[in-house]
Amino acid sequence: MFRLIYLSTPKPEVGKPDIDQILASSRKNNRFNNITGLLIQDKKRFLQYLEGDQKAVEETFNRIASDPRHTAVFMVKSGFVVRRQFPKWTMASKNAERSNSLVAAVSEMTKACDKDVADELLSFAAARDRAA
Ligand SMILES: Cc1cc2nc3c(=O)[nH]c(=O)nc-3n(C[C@H](O)[C@H](O)[C@H](O)COP(=O)(O)O)c2cc1C
Repeated sequence: MFRLIYLSTPKPEVGKPDIDQILASSRKNNRFNNITGLLIQDKKRFLQYLEGDQKAVEETFNRIASDPRHTAVFMVKSGFVVRRQFPKWTMASKNAERSNSLVAAVSEMTKACDKDVADELLSFAAARDRAA
């Protein structure tokens, strides 16, 4: 299973209606492309995990990377893992704005993941929380 993780910075004007629109089109496209994953955001960052067929994931990521609703898109990791981690989620989502902690959001959402993948996501979330 190919997976790709990236961090980006939402544009300041991006609010709930934009997020809802992003999730709606993500879920529609990802279902069609057999992609699953996770999108967590707070005021300063998006953290997204995309998994599926390599070509489909890379094409989706290229589309996302040129989306004007965020900047500084930074791919932190890509490659293969043993199995699909979010089989039930065409795009699980979590708004971490209130606690402003990606770690809290990630640990809540990775309970059913393999430990190595959960740890990897947590380490990126922790790096971002430290930088906040
Ligand atoms: C943070 C972020 C995450 C996104 N995630 C996805 C995604 O998982 N799948 C997807 O197809 N589009 C995603 N998009 C939207 C794409 O950039 C693009 O707008 C969309 O795929 C275009 O398809 P549509 O014309 O069907 O809406 C995301 C955009 C942003 C800003």
